[in-house]
Amino acid sequence: MKIALGCDHGGLEHKNAIAEHLKDLGYEVCDFGIYEQKPVDYPDIAIKVCKSIVSGECDRGILVCGTGIGMSLAANKVKGIRAAACSEHFSAKYTRLHNDSNVLCLGGRVIGVGTALELAEIFVKTGFEGGRHQNRVNKITEIENTGGIENA
Ligand code: RB5
Repeated sequence: MKIALGCDHGGLEHKNAIAEHLKDLGYEVCDFGIYEQKPVDYPDIAIKVCKSIVSGECDRGILVCGTGIGMSLAANKVKGIRAAACSEHFSAKYTRLHNDSNVLCLGGRVIGVGTALELAEIFVKTGFEGGRHQNRVNKITEIENTGGIENA
């Protein structure tokens, strides 16, 4: 499995630690930056990671900004992306099991590096349960395809 990583200046330390951790676990990592501590606009990084997923180059993505929220807002605008901002283990696990999320967003100013490594590991190791959840995910895709409220 190939994992795309990206961060802004609020998540550099966490992103770098996640990259090393995933490589140690045997995952292939594609690092879309940033690579040094300088201010950037998080949507610019989110789009690179999301593009690699919808194109099929990478299987899942992990984005880190200060809160995880800006990255998730930007990522969820990309067709085919289901991004979840998580700061604890239960959500990181269930967003894979039930939502088939393909991007995990973390807050470098919200959680410590140790927790970030655990959430990243849960996210890449957990599969989608399918079944009744597939139907619900299909409805999210339908909203995405129709623009939302026209058919509500
Ligand atoms: C950058 O200062 C900060 O706004 C960003 O990392 C993120 O928290 C946005 O949601």
